[in-house]
Amino acid sequence: MKLFDVYPLYDVEPVKAYDCTVVDKNGTTYLDLYGGHAVISIGHTHPHYIKRLKEQVDNIGFYSNAVQNNLQVQLAEKLGKLSGYDDYQLFLCNSGAEANENALKLASFHTGKSRVIAFENAFHGRTSAAVAATDNPKINAPLNNQQDVTFLPLNQIEFVKTELEKGDVCAVIIEPIQGVGGLDEGITTFFTELETLCNKFGAVLILDEVQSGFGRTGKFFAHQYHGITPDIISIAKGMGNGFPVGGIMIAPHIKPSYGLLGTTFGGNHLACVATLSVLEVIEAENLIDNAKNIGEYFVSQAMKIPRVDKIKGKGLMLGLEFDFEVGELRKKMIYDQHIFTGGAMNKKVLRILPPLTIGKKEIDRFVKALQSVLVEQKESV
Ligand SMILES: Cc1ncc(COP(=O)(O)O)c(C=O)c1O
Repeated sequence: MKLFDVYPLYDVEPVKAYDCTVVDKNGTTYLDLYGGHAVISIGHTHPHYIKRLKEQVDNIGFYSNAVQNNLQVQLAEKLGKLSGYDDYQLFLCNSGAEANENALKLASFHTGKSRVIAFENAFHGRTSAAVAATDNPKINAPLNNQQDVTFLPLNQIEFVKTELEKGDVCAVIIEPIQGVGGLDEGITTFFTELETLCNKFGAVLILDEVQSGFGRTGKFFAHQYHGITPDIISIAKGMGNGFPVGGIMIAPHIKPSYGLLGTTFGGNHLACVATLSVLEVIEAENLIDNAKNIGEYFVSQAMKIPRVDKIKGKGLMLGLEFDFEVGELRKKMIYDQHIFTGGAMNKKVLRILPPLTIGKKEIDRFVKALQSVLVEQKESV
């Protein structure tokens, strides 16, 4: 059987990795400034993470959600404490799309309504309602187009008010900082007014922290820069440091009932231990502060790079917007400089999403490498 050919692949095959380094099958080492789409939070193969997972798999790796699993309770407690959402409720699933799917479904159950407000250039995943709330017609099949989603521009609260006044909206879903879209973000007054309007018109405010959560932006959640409290927060990516796990954190006023949500694999023993060990390392190694400090250092150094129009994002969720499309630049960074970086829907944005353990030395290496590629590019014109 052949693989279903949906990914344009770089010609690199990683076989080993540690911290911010990836090693390919030829023994070449790469600096990982992309963390496999913002997934690697505490660094590749972190010893504490490996130890905890190995011990768990020796005991029990999986049982269904029909029986007690104290690891889920431990995880909910630790996550509540570290994120500042002690009084919220946790539902566990397996990916970011699934988290948003459950968030939207729960909002619809809770309000009895079905229309969703999302934002231009948003990305929320590839499943039914999540992809319908994603502003990319190319990845929406006719089946997905049956969902009722209205896309609005960021930072224009009057448009949101007009739609919410119609009274048929179950949820407003928003990324605190757009990831796949290219690092655009709402301003604080937009977020606070959004919260007020959602409360006034009874719409559920969902903050999609799948990419920006778990300390990546220098706070546990990026929306905490704006002082808002969403009704539902969706989480995944950095949560498991590579182990597939996702979830939603649900405000106390949204009540559960048996059978409302469910999953076979979500919240399994290994996923819980992966996430618990990520939280333990984030806490022990002060990785949220590191994300903030190294992010600031990155911004100060990135100002030296020629042809950068804008430096976007917060902490270690960063984007450099150039005055040209960065596809070729990314290839040169991988093949010539051995540094992984990311692209975005905005073709001029180079995305930087390293493990939260990264230091200044690695940032210096990146800036130097990028400068030399840009000089080469200039000389070849
Ligand atoms: C903000 C956001 N939401 C949801 C998703 C979907 O997550 P997954 O690919 O785990 O389904 C992504 C993935 O890039 C994302 O960036």
